[in-house]
Amino acid sequence: MTAQKRAAGRAAADLVTSGQTVGLGTGSTVFYVLERLAERIRDEGLEILGVPTSVDTETKARDLGIGLTTLDRVERFHVTIDGADEIDGGYRMIKGGGGALLREKVVASLSDEVVTVVGPDKVVERLGTTFDLPVEVVPFARSACSRRIAGLGGTPAVRGGEDAPYLTDNGNEILDVHFDAGIEDPAALERALDEIPGVVESGLFVGLSHVLVIGHDDGSADVRRRDG
Ligand code: A5P
Repeated sequence: MTAQKRAAGRAAADLVTSGQTVGLGTGSTVFYVLERLAERIRDEGLEILGVPTSVDTETKARDLGIGLTTLDRVERFHVTIDGADEIDGGYRMIKGGGGALLREKVVASLSDEVVTVVGPDKVVERLGTTFDLPVEVVPFARSACSRRIAGLGGTPAVRGGEDAPYLTDNGNEILDVHFDAGIEDPAALERALDEIPGVVESGLFVGLSHVLVIGHDDGSADVRRRDG
């Protein structure tokens, strides 16, 4: 697993060129992206400006000496590199295992190119079959959102439990939603979730990823580009 993540992360970081504004995703695979970017800054004089999608990434990037700015100072990103919990053949994804889905989706939506870094186990036929869908909700509306989501066929569970819910960097809660047969129509479900008052964002990323980097145990990585 570690070798796969490292291989994917390093290959993706090698796609970045000097002068780019880079969206920095979140998670254990992205750590290897950060590590390789820092190496290139040090060894090759690579010049980039990053915007982190979580407090965790901000801390790690800062410690590694990667130059950072805030979203308020950026209109568009040349490229964003981020992990995924699942990705299908159309590069549709489930994200949010690390709780950073909201900022990740904002940054991805502003990016000319989104590069997704994964190991082979994250590539699935149908979304929702190996990973429950994270949905960020405001704490006030947790129960109301849960009922509406159940009406869409999902079974939501409060991340961390109802008594000690996990809180995102934005102060919201996460419902991890299980779908018995996976997600039949990710785009329709994303729209339906967006219409529920109290839902801040879902971890469904449809049409956002352009490039898929799959890392392997032997240290190699496949770099694929979405058709169309
Ligand atoms: C963070 O909220 C997620 O969207 C991550 O991108 C996703 O969970 C992948 O993380 P790993 O690279 O740690 O598996």
